[in-house]
Amino acid sequence: MKLMEELAPKGLQGVYVDKTEIATTDSTGNLVYRGYRVVEIADRLSFEEIAYLLVYSRLPNREETDEFRKFLIENSKLPGYVVKIISAMKGMNIMDILRTSVSALTVSGRDEKSLLSLAAKFPAIVNLAGDGPDPDKAPTGSFSERFYYFMTGRDDQKNAGLLEKILIMYMEHEFNASTFALRVTASTLADPACAFTSALATLKGPLHGGANSEVLKFLLGLKSQDEVRRYVDDTLAKKEKLMGFGHRVYKDRDPRAQYIKGLLLRYFSDREVVRNAVFMEEYVWEKKNLAANVDFYGALYMYLLGIDEKYYLPVFACSRVFGWVAHYIEQQSNNKLIRPLALYTGKKDQKI
Ligand code: CMC
Repeated sequence: MKLMEELAPKGLQGVYVDKTEIATTDSTGNLVYRGYRVVEIADRLSFEEIAYLLVYSRLPNREETDEFRKFLIENSKLPGYVVKIISAMKGMNIMDILRTSVSALTVSGRDEKSLLSLAAKFPAIVNLAGDGPDPDKAPTGSFSERFYYFMTGRDDQKNAGLLEKILIMYMEHEFNASTFALRVTASTLADPACAFTSALATLKGPLHGGANSEVLKFLLGLKSQDEVRRYVDDTLAKKEKLMGFGHRVYKDRDPRAQYIKGLLLRYFSDREVVRNAVFMEEYVWEKKNLAANVDFYGALYMYLLGIDEKYYLPVFACSRVFGWVAHYIEQQSNNKLIRPLALYTGKKDQKI
């Protein structure tokens, strides 16, 4: 093999590092799962159907969907020792508890079902870590209904149906940082729990999934368009990042953000905070050509659905894990250890 002393762009920006059949962004800037535009299927299919599509590369029929839904409920039960770990960590950040609990779960198989049984436990861990309501009293309906109950204690089909939309938007996004971390770990032939742990650790960073819990910290405090302008101007003047803006792939518009914005305008247009958010999107675009991303409108959307801020990133994780399942399987099916090179620029010929 000829080694080329050629440096890839910083952050691997704009570099294709492998092929995937799971998801992409098409030429019109739309996110596509297995050939279907997400914003179109989100209106017509359930979370379970889309998760099944990602993992098994085809849409399920009604019977398969019901079985899949049942499988996710049945496999959500946590082993006693994980319950003890969660109790010992009570009060800590839910993402830290989720990551630690997942790393403690052992999964012997590497097939779809073994991976899915791990994914099915994510909401149950979040429920317990967040001191949520009794899981045995959760509705036995859809993934979203149960998950909404786990976080709010409410059996509310309408809000659960709205939660489902953001879960679908968050489910998969090709080689984003957490998925790439998962694939690096999977490429060493480490087991699924190790790979999910890598992914969870990576998702937490504020440049990735952690952005969604940062958004409300400023958005709720901005009471007028003047205040929005001042906040944006000050943040940019200090050369700080505006959380919920910008994206590595979507430089003009994030289709997921636009989809969630559409729902906000449909269901919550009377709220001042929604009008201020839309103004902020326009103003940031005018000032810096940065588009609002899914975390900007996603955070506000979850807030208006009555979900506590401590759950925003866990919501992302409990959904994205289905994309991770698909990527673990894909990495295994055609594996090559991911091990790039670093161009050495350190000192040379040092003597003791
Ligand atoms: N606020 C202020 N300036 C920004 C922002 C932002 N949010 N995002 C990018 N820029 C500026 C950046 O400083 C740079 O400016 P200049 O050319 O003057 O130096 C220019 O825009 C290009 O940015 P970049 O950092 O090269 O873009 P990137 O592709 O490396 O970064 C990003 C993508 C998501 C890390 C970045 O936009 C960011 O930090 N955003 C805020 C955090 C955030 O909202 N993350 C969630 C991403 S979407 C969901 C997910 O993946 O989890």
